[in-house]
Amino acid sequence: MGSIAGNDENKPHAVCIPYPAQGHINPMLKLAKLLHHKGFHITFVNTEYNHRRLLKSLGPSALDGLPDFRFATIPDGLPPSDADSTQDILSLCASTTTTCLEPFCELLSEINRSGGPPPVSCIVSDVAMNFTLTAAERFGLPEVLFCTASACGLLGYTQYRRLREKGYIPLKDMSQVTNGYLETIIDWVPGMKDIQLKDFPSFIRTTDPKDFMFNFLIQLIDNIPRAKGLIINTFDALEHDVLVGLSTMFPRIYTIGPLHLMANYIHDERLNAISSSLWKEESECMKWLDQKEPQSVVYVNFGSITVVTAQQLTEFAWGLANSKKPFLWVIRPDIVVGESAMLPPEFLAETKDRSMMIGWCPQEQVLNHSAIGGFLTHSGWNSTLESIVGGVPVICWPFFAEQQTNCRFSCVEWGMGMEIDNNVKRDEMELLVREMMDGEKGKKMKEKALEWKKKAEDATAYEGSAYLNLDKLIKEVLLQ
Ligand code: UDX
Repeated sequence: MGSIAGNDENKPHAVCIPYPAQGHINPMLKLAKLLHHKGFHITFVNTEYNHRRLLKSLGPSALDGLPDFRFATIPDGLPPSDADSTQDILSLCASTTTTCLEPFCELLSEINRSGGPPPVSCIVSDVAMNFTLTAAERFGLPEVLFCTASACGLLGYTQYRRLREKGYIPLKDMSQVTNGYLETIIDWVPGMKDIQLKDFPSFIRTTDPKDFMFNFLIQLIDNIPRAKGLIINTFDALEHDVLVGLSTMFPRIYTIGPLHLMANYIHDERLNAISSSLWKEESECMKWLDQKEPQSVVYVNFGSITVVTAQQLTEFAWGLANSKKPFLWVIRPDIVVGESAMLPPEFLAETKDRSMMIGWCPQEQVLNHSAIGGFLTHSGWNSTLESIVGGVPVICWPFFAEQQTNCRFSCVEWGMGMEIDNNVKRDEMELLVREMMDGEKGKKMKEKALEWKKKAEDATAYEGSAYLNLDKLIKEVLLQ
């Protein structure tokens, strides 16, 4: 990969600011490392809350960075807390939007005043942190927005305004969520044939015309054209039709994913050692997987935000137990709403010889391990991409945001998934796990997952679409 020549003070300086949640920090850090690899000086901006958590999970010197890859912090506007869990997403969106602009501007001024690093030359910001657009305008800097979710999810969000104008949303009452209303087909969205209301990102499930998240998303979409470009962590072959649809609204789209494959171009060990894991990884699961037969293990993980009820946890547990398959189940300490995760002792006794349960794992490595045969996922976008890159079929249990859209695309468009009912029951869970691991449908899903894996590798290979788009992004936007 080529890079920009020049000594340190002449380097372009990108300030990279993720939305402060795990599923956003991970891809932003990879992008920041790639830009560093391309010759940029980097300032990576975390919230104080996450910075403290990162230091705790990674160790006190983990974010010391390099002379030309530095970390900085701003407050997130929420009351200080020593908690180790994901912050409430609604409160975080509200507080970052209303309180972060001034601290962010102060940070930019401070960097420029300090005389140490080269002056800031561009901003790379998460789409959900769009107060940064005002900062870019104040400082006269080019800004590119980064959508860490899928293109199909983003296209879903772009339709919120029209869904409201046409009277589909808000819902008349919440019974419409279960009475079949959400099966209504929406026929106008380019690149989304036969899409139903239920496949749109979850914030349509509201009866309140002033619903904060629904309106927040409309506002985020409205502001995208203020940026000089839009990066999406996807690849053209995977979401071709959707990207064509999006390009009529946002002309400068740069698809540069899967970023965790692109990250293979980074050979600087000091940079590769910088991690963004907010929980301490329990890597012993890799040794456990080494002892298992190829494609024999079911992997269960619902990402960093999803919460389940105690009853859902029990149904998942018995579904797994009754499938008789070995499984690796990641149960985050804060996964059960309002209480600690308690599993039935009979379940633990019955599955102890063929299961491993931990609080957090190195997921990219897990999904690349040959022992993994299938993945029960909440369809978070990083998890979906990591599954594609691992060639692993999925059972989808979407929780919120654009996970509903990712689920539809995994199951219907990409043919590598099956959906499990939101009101999960152990018998259905058992049947789906058996089908994924041993059935005819499971075999087809595996084949499709491997096809997508190959296409992801092609996109990120030398002169593949993602490879070329990263260079275009730098030339057309970040160095302008
Ligand atoms: C979500 C989703 O990105 C997205 O659907 C939505 O817009 C809001 O944020 P999250 O629910 O955490 O994030 O899911 P996911 O996108 O899958 O990201 C989780 C990340 O954490 C992945 O990169 C995954 O590899 C990592 N992870 C998760 C681990 O490293 N270890 C774990 O045990 C669990």
